[in-house]
Amino acid sequence: MNKTFKFILKKVYFLYEAVTNYRFYNLRKQTNGMLWPVVYKTMYEQCRNLPDLDIIEIGGATGAGSVAIAWGMKDANKKSQLIVVEKCEGGTRSDVGGYDDNLALIQEHFNKFDVNDKITLFPQEVTFDNGNDVISLVTTKTIAAFIHDADGRLDRDFLLFWPILKSNGLIIVDDYADEPKYKPISERHPQGGTKSVMTYRLLNQIIEWGLVKTSKKIGKTIFGYKPADADFSRFDLEVCNQIIEGVKRERDNFLNEREAVVQIR
Ligand SMILES: C[S@@+](CC[C@H](N)C(=O)[O-])C[C@H]1O[C@@H](n2cnc3c(N)ncnc32)[C@H](O)[C@@H]1O
Repeated sequence: MNKTFKFILKKVYFLYEAVTNYRFYNLRKQTNGMLWPVVYKTMYEQCRNLPDLDIIEIGGATGAGSVAIAWGMKDANKKSQLIVVEKCEGGTRSDVGGYDDNLALIQEHFNKFDVNDKITLFPQEVTFDNGNDVISLVTTKTIAAFIHDADGRLDRDFLLFWPILKSNGLIIVDDYADEPKYKPISERHPQGGTKSVMTYRLLNQIIEWGLVKTSKKIGKTIFGYKPADADFSRFDLEVCNQIIEGVKRERDNFLNEREAVVQIR
């Protein structure tokens, strides 16, 4: 699609959102959120209707999605908490500044939108090793939802959080797109442009294992749930690793070929 046409289409679309969906249009604008206002609205609606159990969100950034989810929980008078995991540095966070700047910004947004009492922030990178520290913050027996909008490492987050998700619990995954944006790894691009492809391939495998049933797709955001008859013994970390290594190899080959073309010229 032509760039100017795409730009105009986006402007018109956001004007439409400003008129029809002002609450979430404004939330996105004020927090510099990365998802579409309609995605925040859908997150709000779906989380508002869940049982009164904690929710885990991986990848809070400036807090737009977290506020939408917490609003849903608050408007439904839930007692449960939203646990937000955000590493506060590197990647898109370097556009804001360092760790302290990012931590201050997300906290400022939680205050501004009056959701501080609904949120427990885990301001560190979640890893296979510290996943239990996140789980230890959960105050309910199971969780009602988990949301991944982080680094594409669905293998880690499904291994850690799927088992504590209640049956029919909500799963939201962003960046589901078969769109490689391969580039060298740097502080700004810690995944080297593999995030969407990694998410796409890992989620397809996880769906094939029957661990998620999808219900809705808005842009690159997938909404789904944990089927009642799902069998976690089908989850295979080794297969996930093969997918991840395959994507990394693809990126390396792409960059090597590009380098070779540049040298020939
Ligand atoms: C695309 S942004 C999230 C956007 C946000 N959900 C919104 O509504 O605007 C991804 C975020 O995930 C964070 N992140 C990536 N990997 C992470 C990890 N392993 N642990 C914690 N945060 C992570 C990044 O720092 C970044 O802020």
